Amino acid sequence: MHERLPGFRDFYPEDCAKRNFLFRVWSDAARCHGFHEYDIPTLEPLNLFTEKSGPEIVSQLFNFTDKGGREVALRPELTPSLARMVGAKVASLPKPLKWFNIAENFRYEKPQEGRLRSHYQLNCDIFGEPGPGADAELIATAIASIRSFGPTEKDFVVRLSDRTLWMLFLASLGHEGEAALGVLGVIDKLERLPREQALERLTPYFGDAREDFFAQVETILSLRDAPSLATFFLGHAPNADLRAKIEGRLAEWTTLLENLRAMGLGPFIRVDLGIVRGLAYYTGFVFEIFKLDADGTLSGRALAGGGRYDHLIGKLGFPETPAVGFGMGDVTMTQFLEERGCLPKMIEKPDVFVVLGGGEARTLGLAAVGALRSAGIRTEYPLREVGFGKQFRLAGQSGARLALIVGENEAARHQIRVKDLTSGGEVGIFASHAVEAIRAFLDEGIPPTDSPS
Ligand code: HAM
Repeated sequence: MHERLPGFRDFYPEDCAKRNFLFRVWSDAARCHGFHEYDIPTLEPLNLFTEKSGPEIVSQLFNFTDKGGREVALRPELTPSLARMVGAKVASLPKPLKWFNIAENFRYEKPQEGRLRSHYQLNCDIFGEPGPGADAELIATAIASIRSFGPTEKDFVVRLSDRTLWMLFLASLGHEGEAALGVLGVIDKLERLPREQALERLTPYFGDAREDFFAQVETILSLRDAPSLATFFLGHAPNADLRAKIEGRLAEWTTLLENLRAMGLGPFIRVDLGIVRGLAYYTGFVFEIFKLDADGTLSGRALAGGGRYDHLIGKLGFPETPAVGFGMGDVTMTQFLEERGCLPKMIEKPDVFVVLGGGEARTLGLAAVGALRSAGIRTEYPLREVGFGKQFRLAGQSGARLALIVGENEAARHQIRVKDLTSGGEVGIFASHAVEAIRAFLDEGIPPTDSPS
């Protein structure tokens, strides 16, 4: 017996209908915010990811050598490919550029709750605008991509953080470049690491001062608004140069939060410097979206994550171009929406079920099936000759609104009997007028008082 690979999913029709619903609402939200759809290849040169995504994703790549001897990988994310695509035409593309895509990504992770080896992501990205207005626009789009299904600020929260502020703080402690990125890597894991292990990982950077640093981190993680960020970070600025840089950054925080509040999105935002993001290319504001339990606590794995990555296009060899984007995953979103009762039951039903007699009747009935389908009316019929009793049972089970009956008597008179399967009402129509008549019955139904013709 054959089985699926671990971490992959089969989508039976009901799952597919759910997935399509998710994609439809996502793309409506993206378009409504002015994003245009693009697409990229599933398979890419391996070095696009080994050089640009960072070690965490590289350890999860599905990679192999193709028949032409090229080292290739299934895309684990879209961002490096998108950066290449935008970079190649950056001079001629209008800015700000707002693009979106919904696509499958592959990561060789340990399959677990909320994490699979194949998942779909909505990606929205904005290029060409360095200021916090673009970050606000992007976060607003991410919020709308969840709110459009029904959840409110009681159900989910955007944890908003800032790698720039972290880097300025670490610079004030003497850590820059690779060392600062190493410390951020530990902070990224803090929520999942026991204290002792976190301290151990901080030792190479802080030695005996690791406990003091850890205590400062705990304070930073408890800061929940712009004024407390200002008090802490300005209070720890060791010189005028860093103080000026921190002041400049705090002004951008104020603009970002004011933009979001003006759009009515304040209640969805939580200042939370615990988010630093695992991917290597992020440079400024970063965020992750989490579901909230009834008591307001964060729960589960991230529904979405993103942030600013102003140097990625430049690192690919193209002109430096400011960029900000997010990815929202279908696995955690579907679980979340189901849990909150926000996914309608997806049942695909025909409009019409055609009940057919044998011989001439079947020929006339099939002609009606063809005409109805050409007119866009969803039409089903039994693929082989079966008795009327069974066909009526099938018509009922199909969920169709109307049954069309083409028996030998009807065929002899070029007529079709139409039964409203909800009201029980029946009428006779001429086969030549079937399409117009069926359209009207689908809109208005057939009253139960009508007697069969
Ligand atoms: P990411 O945080 O790696 O970001 O993924 C974004 C979202 O995709 C996650 O929050 C999660 O919902 C979903 N996701 C990621 N990995 C898996 C998995 N193995 N199984 C199920 N769901 C998963 C990125 O990928 C960035 N490229 C996003 C971005 C776009 N940044 C800028 N633009």
